Amino acid sequence: MIEKLKPWSKINSWEKKGESLLLRGEEDLKIEVINEKVIRFHFSKNKEWRHNYSFAIEREISKIDFVVEENEEDIILYTGILKVVINKNFPNIKIYEKEKLIHSDYQNYGYAKYKNKVFSLKSFHKEEAFLGLGEKMGGLNKKGKKYVNWNTDDPHHYPNTDPLYQSHPFLLAWNSEFSYGIFFDNTFRTYFDLGEESSEYYCFYADNGELDYYFIYGPTPKEVIENYTFLIGRYYMPPLFALGYQQSKWGYRNKEMLMDIARKFREKDIPCDVLYLDIDYMDGFRVFTFDEEKFPNIKEMIKDLNKMGFKVVPIVDPGVKKDINYEVYREGIEKECFCRRSTGEIYTGYVWPGECVFPDFAKGRVREWWGEKQKKLIDAGVSGIWNDMNEPSSFPHPVDNFSKSWERHSTFWGIFSDHTDEVFYEKTFPKDVLHGERGEFTHDEIHNVYGLLMAKASYEGWRRENPNIRPLIITRAGFSGVQKYSAVWTGDNKSWWEHLYVSIPMLQNLGISGVPFIGADVGGFGLNCSPELFVRWIELGIFYPFFRNHSELNTRPQEPWAFSKEVEDIARNYIKLRYKLIPYFYSLFWEAKEKGIPLIRPLVLEFPNDRESIYNYDEFMLGPFMLVAPIYREGVRARLVYLPPGIWYDFWGNEKYEGPNYISVKAPLGRIPLFIREGSIIPLWEVQSFVGEKKQEILELLVYPGKGEFMYYEDDGISWSYENGEYNLIKIEVNDGKLEIKYLYKGYKSDRKMFKVKYLGKEFLLEDKDYIKLDL
Ligand code: GLC
Repeated sequence: MIEKLKPWSKINSWEKKGESLLLRGEEDLKIEVINEKVIRFHFSKNKEWRHNYSFAIEREISKIDFVVEENEEDIILYTGILKVVINKNFPNIKIYEKEKLIHSDYQNYGYAKYKNKVFSLKSFHKEEAFLGLGEKMGGLNKKGKKYVNWNTDDPHHYPNTDPLYQSHPFLLAWNSEFSYGIFFDNTFRTYFDLGEESSEYYCFYADNGELDYYFIYGPTPKEVIENYTFLIGRYYMPPLFALGYQQSKWGYRNKEMLMDIARKFREKDIPCDVLYLDIDYMDGFRVFTFDEEKFPNIKEMIKDLNKMGFKVVPIVDPGVKKDINYEVYREGIEKECFCRRSTGEIYTGYVWPGECVFPDFAKGRVREWWGEKQKKLIDAGVSGIWNDMNEPSSFPHPVDNFSKSWERHSTFWGIFSDHTDEVFYEKTFPKDVLHGERGEFTHDEIHNVYGLLMAKASYEGWRRENPNIRPLIITRAGFSGVQKYSAVWTGDNKSWWEHLYVSIPMLQNLGISGVPFIGADVGGFGLNCSPELFVRWIELGIFYPFFRNHSELNTRPQEPWAFSKEVEDIARNYIKLRYKLIPYFYSLFWEAKEKGIPLIRPLVLEFPNDRESIYNYDEFMLGPFMLVAPIYREGVRARLVYLPPGIWYDFWGNEKYEGPNYISVKAPLGRIPLFIREGSIIPLWEVQSFVGEKKQEILELLVYPGKGEFMYYEDDGISWSYENGEYNLIKIEVNDGKLEIKYLYKGYKSDRKMFKVKYLGKEFLLEDKDYIKLDL
């Protein structure tokens, strides 16, 4: 590849202009320092900078000053922590922390072009692992492989399938000494070749647009994520009910069926908080309508479900049926809301309702209009919105032929061959669809952010139409920054062991990429789930932040009771454990909101200096304390578990182990290997059938010997009043048999009256106070 590229030529002059350093040559480079660890490198293309906006970085980012020096060979920029050395005659950027080289361009290919494509080649230095890139197949470490970002609806994904539903052009490069990140702020189709082509360099490039990227220094991976999410934004506090168990199926086809499912959960004493309405609820798949026959008086139905403790979340697809008698279509036409082709005609494609038109979410007023349409659902009493098919998924022919076009997948995307376009455009809008008020964006540029913009419309619309209640917004497609608006589920997986397995690294990388509220369809979406697979998936699923069982039309029933009494009992116990853990999850969400740190963490997030940790991605940390080692193969009844440095306790039996070590752990059906780190403090609730059923007057604290601390967070779990200070933040510390509980902030009157501390078989009941000190 490299021989076809035209590299960056020499730098003729430089100037410090306002908050930027400008380097001039045949093409120019603008460098901005966001903070001492974050630097933006923005190259001109044909001597122009047109990328003066960002779909991912939406807030004003202030910059800091820096020092520049020049010598014979180099221009040197100092941020306070980083030193950037740029060679003038043979342009090459090197980044140091003090004298330690962290990162460098490959020769003078730090910027290169080929036709419209822009490239950046980087030397391999100490990058032992590349994490991130969002929702990808394969293992945790992406080194040695090549990936493409182009949101794609691919329900038949195999180990080598790429791309999938989301695009996150973000990398976290890790070694046991330091980590750095690169965010390539380009929404066109982007590629990351992380050593497939060469063992000397890795590279990222885009089909079009500009080379505009951020270098983000750690040195710890957590610091990289914190700074990355500082740029692209973080998730808000989810409504508490969204942390409960959620049940869905395409094919809950009428009110009786749905009510029956709801009643069964209560009769069988299996906790559940959310029921979904898949496309079955709509009138002929017309979005924002109800099928009055199958779901008569939906408002009443939702009210009844609410009374039983269920929330209801309906699906919303972007495809609007082309039907002159359908209000949403007519209104959208009148208001000029739908995407047009370069010829001027409105683009139509096929989705569930037949021929459809599609809102242009790149227009602010269209997002507003769409957000307003949600009012109909909000008035019916729903508690969130499930945004689907927003890659966007659209077909050139009727739905019956869908599976035909899904047969092609996993092609190797040769970068210089234009025929790859055929595949990329097969299941989405054609190339000549234009977006924006003046048609200023081509579909190439908007494609990857269409889902993000739909999620934004959904979230912002909700906040306008129902301003006091936090929604559960979920989306299938997305781009970097999607977490500002939405939770993400990983699309259409299958009831395959391989898909249970792949969710483990996939969710870790999605978390690394800044998205904390994530999950895969538990039990698998497509095909029939076996009892054993279901058990193993529930064992794992209770640790997914987004915990939903969902399956496809015409697959076997997949509710927890649909297999056998044994499976049902196991599922009940696990779901109940999840309900106990809700306050732990919720406090971790506070950390995600404050710092962007995900709940599901690769071991290296907690043990950044431990090399062995990077190889053990078939286990993960839930927050700082719980190590989860799922069983992901059929027939397996034991597994090897890697315990990173420190003392560990078996959650089920309390045996003590010392890491680093590999241990063999028995895992009969219904027993997931689960270990707790020394010094853990895990807040637990009493089990309830749904969030809010019981007043949680006692907060249990499961404390383990050692030294540790935890920030316990609480608020009403319903409204946005936490944004106005109505929350509590309590720091809990354990050290050498002593426990301290201290309010750092008190702004909310919770139901909690007592703490019940459990430590080495002892129990202490303590009244809530601003400061508590206890000898354990
Ligand atoms: C898509 C979604 C799936 C949903 C189906 C029908 O395949 O990913 O979750 O059930 O459409 O709406």
